[in-house]
Amino acid sequence: MLRTAGKILAEVLRETAERCGPGVSAEVLNAFAEAQIRARGAEPAFLGYTPEGASAPYPATLCVSVNDEVVHSLPTKEKIFKKGDVVSLDLGLIYEGFVVDSARTELVGADDADAKRLIKATREALDAAIATARAGVHTGDIGAAVSRVAKDYHLSVVRDLGGHGTGRAVHESPFVPNFGTQGGGELLVEGMVLAFEPIFTLGKGAIELDPDQWTYRTKDASRSAHFEHTVLIGKEGAEIITR
Ligand code: MF3
Ligand code: CO
Repeated sequence: MLRTAGKILAEVLRETAERCGPGVSAEVLNAFAEAQIRARGAEPAFLGYTPEGASAPYPATLCVSVNDEVVHSLPTKEKIFKKGDVVSLDLGLIYEGFVVDSARTELVGADDADAKRLIKATREALDAAIATARAGVHTGDIGAAVSRVAKDYHLSVVRDLGGHGTGRAVHESPFVPNFGTQGGGELLVEGMVLAFEPIFTLGKGAIELDPDQWTYRTKDASRSAHFEHTVLIGKEGAEIITR
């Protein structure tokens, strides 16, 4: 059922991302994602969910964070994409009691070398995290693999945010930082369900919370990118549940 949940999420997130073009609003993508999730017999996981530290439940299905917006930004109708926008789409769902979480970042119809490097590196960092993961390694090994990629591409890690356990609730322990030292942090064991989510910026990586109380934004206004998969930890490696 976890695998089915992941497959539904992968399909819906891909179809949502395909609709992300110039002139399209975040609100339209949110409505599309919600309808697709329900049509497949699942429910949105973020709608009505209150993350730790938040003062209210999240009022939408999809998080849409553009350019210097880092994560958790609201899919408003005023948020209309234009050429060159770096758009992070973060989506979670519940199916038969199993929660899965995934995100990807799109560059809206432009040929921008910095944005391409940012997106490519963040995607590769997620690949590196997954390639490192198996029973017996530690969260520090994951973080070290992620931050290595940031360094190679001359980008910054957003250190205040990171991956997490998931599967039965959106956020479970352990926290999975996107930096760390090999062998440090918590031990990964067989059967754990984790969401890895590298978040990089073209600037320094410091963030602040907007007055809307949802949007995390870079302090230096630099653009950021975000990729996330839910994975299942096995003896030999990690299975990508949201592929
Ligand atoms: N995918 C997001 C994360 O891991 C979860 C967003 S919950 C919301 O942080 F309530 F903010 F939408
Ligand atoms: Co997550």
